[in-house]
Amino acid sequence: MDRDIEKILLTEEQIENRIRELGRELTAAYAGKDPVVVGVLKGVVVFYADMLRQIKIPCQTDFMWISSYSGTTSTGAMEVKRDISTDIKGRHVLILEDIFDTGNSLEFTYHHLLSKEPASLKICTLLDKPERRRAGVTLRADYVGFTIPNEFVVGYGLDYNEHYRNLPYVGVLKQEVYEIGTCKSL
Ligand code: IMP
Ligand code: MG
Repeated sequence: MDRDIEKILLTEEQIENRIRELGRELTAAYAGKDPVVVGVLKGVVVFYADMLRQIKIPCQTDFMWISSYSGTTSTGAMEVKRDISTDIKGRHVLILEDIFDTGNSLEFTYHHLLSKEPASLKICTLLDKPERRRAGVTLRADYVGFTIPNEFVVGYGLDYNEHYRNLPYVGVLKQEVYEIGTCKSL
């Protein structure tokens, strides 16, 4: 897999250090609030597992699975494939996401959860690609791991056609890989 990667953007160590910092912020911000930490599947799984263990206060966990994205282009249309099962009315809810790209997914997720009347609703994203934001998206992430340039990245949970999620770092995929349309290393 590593030979399909053009360059490593974020090393395991950089990610680990940043998550520790975010953990200190989230632990302070949510102390005494028993938040519900909602992960947006599937890209978030690796970040979720590491981030959760740095939130050192009582909290509950849940997941949403939304879908629309295939390959490297977003269609914009979204559906809830699996909703959360926690009643979040009156609860403090923190959304964890892998990447804030065009903003379609996060806007959809945010409004879906907001309609369930939480006491507060905030967003923590590992990666933010502000250059890619669709015009008209006013949503902001409250906590951002890293702001990255407009390049297609994989690893640490992020995929290309469901591959590369298991790379321990975040890397830029070689262009020839998506031109061929599949994992070169298969
Ligand atoms: P958005 O709806 O365009 O903001 O995209 C959000 C979703 O698209 C993320 O949750 C990812 O699954 C996927 N995505 C966006 N950019 C990338 C990328 O650079 N690499 C891999 N997946 C991406
Ligand atoms: Mg994806």
